Amino acid sequence: EKASKEGFDHFMLKEIFEQSESTQNVLNRFIKGDSFDLGESTFSAQEFKNFDSVYLSSCGTAFHAAQVAKYLIEDLIQIPVRDEIASELAYSNPFITEKTLLIVVSQSGETADTLNAMRLAKSKGATIFAVTNVVGSTIAREADRVLYCQAGPEISVASTKAYTSQLMNLYFFILDWAKKLGKLDNSLETQLLSDLKQIPNHIESLLDTVTGYRELAENFIHCESVYFIGRAVDYISAKEGSLKLKEISYIHSEALPAGELKHGTIALIEPGTQVIALATQRPLIEKIASNIVELSSRGAEILSVGFEHKGLKESSDRFIAIPETSDYVAPILSIIPLQTLAYYVAVLKGNDVDKPRNLAKSVTVE
Ligand code: G6P
Repeated sequence: EKASKEGFDHFMLKEIFEQSESTQNVLNRFIKGDSFDLGESTFSAQEFKNFDSVYLSSCGTAFHAAQVAKYLIEDLIQIPVRDEIASELAYSNPFITEKTLLIVVSQSGETADTLNAMRLAKSKGATIFAVTNVVGSTIAREADRVLYCQAGPEISVASTKAYTSQLMNLYFFILDWAKKLGKLDNSLETQLLSDLKQIPNHIESLLDTVTGYRELAENFIHCESVYFIGRAVDYISAKEGSLKLKEISYIHSEALPAGELKHGTIALIEPGTQVIALATQRPLIEKIASNIVELSSRGAEILSVGFEHKGLKESSDRFIAIPETSDYVAPILSIIPLQTLAYYVAVLKGNDVDKPRNLAKSVTVE
């Protein structure tokens, strides 16, 4: 086991570092010259035209990847998208028809709740598209079309490289969809492909300062609760950051859409409360900066993770800069510091990072 960690103390840290390579693999598979090609893992233009609604369903980290995709689908494809946790969707009566596309994301391809949701949608005539890491898994076999992440085996229970790989694969799928429906003009295609091509280097540069994350982690080890905030797709990254932290550090954490704070949770803020703010959506950075001011005036300590921005930096106690790229692809980068921070908080607390208590890598029971 020691040998397969390749010098890293834990599989989780090794897998965090593998993300520049695993995202590069996705690029190598799909990029063809100035464009891209997903081969058999997608739908034809005619099939895409037939869908009039989209459902997204999954569990845990995979659900967050699906939720990030929702923003891009609505923006580029302009079709209604509903996201529902699989264990909820499976026991509801959703408005799913023969014209619905259900997208499921699953690292293992074996999660019982995701399978149940998928089977319900299938019984209503939906088409199922699965994004999974495991070739020949049950979800892969039962879906109508499969896109394999090819992230390589993920050993740590807390998912890291599978998540960013799911995002990369979903982005290419959505670009393909938009292009086939005539909704991706050449300049947007060029811009997004160039942003995606830079992801592996940007991940490397975010991981250059690993000792910095260890120092930052010191601020969290005695916390009872940590709050993550974000707006729009940053709220989803906040949810994933919060999940990472609670899974392995056992610190209670909660993610909130930043604008919702004033409707309840702000009552819990007191001197010393730690808040992590995501700020990668440029039209919303001023708004998040003013949420930060409200929180610090009540004594909260803020770590913000976002694009360079004077107001954001000045209002925060600590700041991690995300390399310059478009707002669209920012979620693939902003999660890297949150994964790494969660890792060091768990290490400093002396927890079993790769095998956190009560959790399983793959949950094949309801
Ligand atoms: C478990 C794991 C999570 C994972 C979730 C969904 O709870 O601990 O890390 O996100 O299952 O798993 P899947 O294999 O469907 O992605």
